[in-house]
This record gives sequence, C-alpha cells and structure tokens, in this order.
Amino acid sequence: MSARILVTGASGTVGGATARLLAAGGHPVRLLGRDAARLPDPGPNGELVTGDFADPAALRAAMSGIEAVLVVTADPRLPGHDANVVRAAQEAGVGRLVKLSALAVAEPGAQDFITRWQREAEERIRACGIAWTMLRPRAFMSNTLAWAEGIRTSGTVRAWPADARAACVDPYDIACVAVRALTEPGHTGRAYALTGPAAVTAREQTEVLARVLGRPLAFEELDADRVRRAAEVRYGAEVARALQESAERRVQGGTSRVEPEAARLLGRPARTYEQWARENAALFAG
Ligand SMILES: NC(=O)c1ccc[n+]([C@@H]2O[C@H](COP(=O)([O-])OP(=O)(O)OC[C@H]3O[C@@H](n4cnc5c(N)ncnc54)[C@H](OP(=O)(O)O)[C@@H]3O)[C@@H](O)[C@H]2O)c1
Repeated sequence: MSARILVTGASGTVGGATARLLAAGGHPVRLLGRDAARLPDPGPNGELVTGDFADPAALRAAMSGIEAVLVVTADPRLPGHDANVVRAAQEAGVGRLVKLSALAVAEPGAQDFITRWQREAEERIRACGIAWTMLRPRAFMSNTLAWAEGIRTSGTVRAWPADARAACVDPYDIACVAVRALTEPGHTGRAYALTGPAAVTAREQTEVLARVLGRPLAFEELDADRVRRAAEVRYGAEVARALQESAERRVQGGTSRVEPEAARLLGRPARTYEQWARENAALFAG
C-alpha cells in the first residue's frame, strides 16, 4: 500500500506520538525527519524518509502521492521552512494540511516573536488553497521534562513562574486529535483550541511529580531575568524574549482558561498532568 499520510516532525513530541498512533492503527504513513535513526517505527504499511525543511526537492519527494500532511515546524527564526513545506504540498497536489500551531495565535494580546511566526504560518496555509485544520494547543505538559536533570541530580525543580496557572495539555491528546483530523472528514477549516482539563502551576506540578516518583522534591523559584538569559544562550535573544512574554501572560492569568474542544474531540476527558506524569515517570528517574 502506498503511503497516504505524511507526518513531519515525526521524531519530535507531537509528530512522534501521532506517527505511533497512525502506525498502530495500520494507516499508511510516511514519516519525515532529518535522521531516519530518530524516527519511530512506521508500521507494516509505512515508510521512513529523510529530508530537511530547507530542501524543497526533498520536501517535494516526501510529499509525492500524499493525501494529508501533519505540518510540524520548529524554528520561528526560519519562516522559510514553513513556506517551503506549503509550496511542496501545493506542487505535490496534497489534499489536506493539519498544522500544529499554538493557542496564543487566537489571543490579540499575544504579540511575541513565536506567536507572530505561528500566526503568519497559519495565514500562509489558509491562503494556499489546500484544505486545512489548525491544532492550537496550550503549553505541553512535556515541557516539564526540562526539570528532569534537576530532579535526578538534586531533587529540586528550579523554574519561573512558580504560581501562575496554565491549562497545559498532554501531547498524546494533541496527537489523538491530529489522527482524527488527518484521517476523517469534517475537520476542514476548523481551528481547535486544545487544553488540558485544569489550569495548574509549576509548584503544583512539582507536588504531583513528587507523589508520582515517591520522593520529596524541593521547588526553587528562579528570577525571571536569569531564566531569560539562560534561554538567550540556548535559543537566541528573540526566542528568549518571546518565551518570557509568554510566561508573563501566564502570570497575568492569560493562559488558565480550560477549553472544551479536546474532550469533545477525544470522546473522553483530556488527560491530567498526573496521568502524563505517571506515563512518563521513567524519564525523571535516575
Ligand atoms: N512546547 C509547547 O509548549 C508548545 C505549545 C504550543 C505549540 N507548540 C508548537 O509545537 C511545535 C513543536 O512541536 P514538538 O514539540 O512536537 O516538536 P519537537 O519535539 O521540538 O521536534 C521538532 C521536530 O521537527 C523536526 N525538525 C526540526 N528542524 C527540522 C528541519 N530543518 N528539517 C526537518 N525536520 C526538522 C525534528 O526532526 P529532527 O531533528 O529529528 O530532524 C523533530 O521531529 C512548534 O511549532 C511549537 O511552536 C509547542
């Protein structure tokens, strides 16, 4: 059977989970990443392809014969990658684009560098003439994997902000919705706001992790500027500033709203942070 669904970002968090669900369901998938060794098993009806978003010819080849694409791009500093993906989809005659975006694009107060990039990428897709669905998640629960090293080495979570709420979402739930949007009719022209079932703080997430891991954990609130400087070293000034602005929106209460869409699409409650932590406990262990 020839592959009909292409998953980009298939070695990553959401793309990987979507790829595994599609493969387990026997769907004919093609998984794209830069290194085949990092891609999940595509299943008996699937295949792996390698290619870079910077390489239009590789993208065209990856999209040949493809009906639906999960679009996961990762670098706000490289909007040319998003443009290349859309152009290749047009040239290959792809029928449907399901884009992993972000909930902040729907919030006029969110004008940071990352959100503007996502907004422009959505606009490009809406204007390209291919049927589309936007997945707009709040912060991923898996972002707390950044705490794993501190937990392993000193039993301490160091983060900022400590007590601001976000209705963070399990990437597995995003992947379940992505599978529906890629494989069923009825999702064209829809933008889905995807949150978890409750708005939680970093301090509360630490308490959950301590319970799940069965060991006490300390919480140390970092200084906002120190967090920004560390992000600057890793991602550059523009992305670091955007992450800080996003955290400031969290402090101001802008990320705490629980949306009903995920549970409606999943046909069950969205997964809690505790469920995510139990599922991923091994990643925090020594
Ligand atoms: N984290 C959050 O809280 C959050 C919230 C809302 C929205 N989002 C959005 O979610 C998206 C990221 O999703 P994710 O966290 O699932 O991804 P991820 O785990 O960061 O993985 C990124 C994926 O993109 C691939 N990739 C990176 N550069 C590439 C290139 N030049 N060519 C081809 N493939 C490339 C990587 O593959 P290889 O490196 O293996 O090639 C990997 O599969 C972003 O658009 C982000 O804005 C994130």
